[in-house]
Amino acid sequence: MAQQFQNRPPKFRLRTRGSLVAATVLLQGVVIGLGCLATLQLSKTELEAGVRGRMMERAAKQAGDFVQRLREASPGPIRRGTPEWERAEKLVEESQPGDGATLMLLDQAAHMLCYPRGEIQTSVPNLDMSQQRLKLYPSGEEIELAQLRPAAALLADTTLASGPVVLAMLDAPAQRAKVLVLQPHQTIRESARAMSSRALLWTALAGAGVLVITVLGSILLVRRYDSILVRANQQLQEELDRRVRRGLNIRNALVFGLAKLADYRDTDTGRHLERICTYCELLAKELKGEFGEITRSWIENLKLASSMHDIGKVGVADAILLKPGKLSPEERRLMELHSLIGADTLIAIRRRVGDDTLINMAIQVALSHHERYDGTGYPYGLQGEQIPLAARIVALADMYDALTSRRVYKDALGHDEACRIIKASRGTHFDPRIADAFDRVKGQFDAVRAEMHAAASSDETPPLVLAVERAQAAARRQAA
Ligand SMILES: [Fe+2]
Ligand SMILES: [Fe+2]
Repeated sequence: MAQQFQNRPPKFRLRTRGSLVAATVLLQGVVIGLGCLATLQLSKTELEAGVRGRMMERAAKQAGDFVQRLREASPGPIRRGTPEWERAEKLVEESQPGDGATLMLLDQAAHMLCYPRGEIQTSVPNLDMSQQRLKLYPSGEEIELAQLRPAAALLADTTLASGPVVLAMLDAPAQRAKVLVLQPHQTIRESARAMSSRALLWTALAGAGVLVITVLGSILLVRRYDSILVRANQQLQEELDRRVRRGLNIRNALVFGLAKLADYRDTDTGRHLERICTYCELLAKELKGEFGEITRSWIENLKLASSMHDIGKVGVADAILLKPGKLSPEERRLMELHSLIGADTLIAIRRRVGDDTLINMAIQVALSHHERYDGTGYPYGLQGEQIPLAARIVALADMYDALTSRRVYKDALGHDEACRIIKASRGTHFDPRIADAFDRVKGQFDAVRAEMHAAASSDETPPLVLAVERAQAAARRQAA
């Protein structure tokens, strides 16, 4: 049964331009074909009647023309054996209409007077035709030839020919004669059939022409609408891209703003977040060949995600966060909660916005940037590859910046001293490959540090620290 279904031919679907044009042409071909056949069938009888009418007119005209010529050739009565008769006989031979028709001359009593010898084979001179019976169409009335009123053109069945004939009779009174033209109906049928065939041929040619025009028109129309659709799609895509870019810019700005807000609570100086972003970018670019997951977009995400590594510090009390001295074990435990608070905040955001690469990376960074490669870090004591790569990179960048920046409880170390500490922590605190990458680009770290610290002014104090210092000074004055 399954085989039977598999062998089924694929369904014809109007999905491509070609199939659309083919369906249109096929449909039109069928309509034109049926139309042609119906028209031909309906017009067959009219066609035959038309041909018959023309034949009757022609027979009457031929008879009339002959009478005219007869008057000129034999003005007097025609009697067998006279010179007039001989001239009339010659004229009859010369005036045969062709096309299967026969012209003859009868006397007033309907005896055959002159007739074409080549067409009428009879040895009886002066043959009596008066008794020849005619069955008239369409009335069915039967008369004898002698009763036929001259000047008539009509269709009749007669023994003069096998089958119906078109018959025209004209009187030539001066010659005491009657002119009779007979056109066998067979020739009418053949003529009608020939006309019908010609009409069919022309109709078929016209139909083919219409089909060709339809094909070309359909192709042009489909192409035109196709290009309109492509343009509309491009415009929609551009609008979509613009909106996505705008949305991403807003998201990135809000994320950075959130991180910056949290950063104000720290005792750090100057442009800590900007430096972390740049350090992470330097390390990621250096490590690009070593880790398959590092791509251009991954680096862009890391630059932004790294700014959120400490947003959890918003949840740490000022007394601990801004404490100049060493923290007690309990204070340290509370301080270390900032990685969990940060991750929890970002998870809450993800729950609302849905799965997002940047938020996912930011959660990894916030949660694991204090993990150590040897498993002695917090909050979970992850080690080696268990720690997400983004968090391992941020850990080193953050450490370098912490070492080379001033804090309320310490002075800034020099670049060389920081490098020495980081090198000593290779394989313990830091991933050896990341520490090695740092070693290769540490010159650039130094340049960035010098440039950004200079821009932020080395003695700049964060607003929060200034506020705390002012509050402490006020408290001391009150106590004094
Ligand atoms: Fe931290
Ligand atoms: Fe930090």
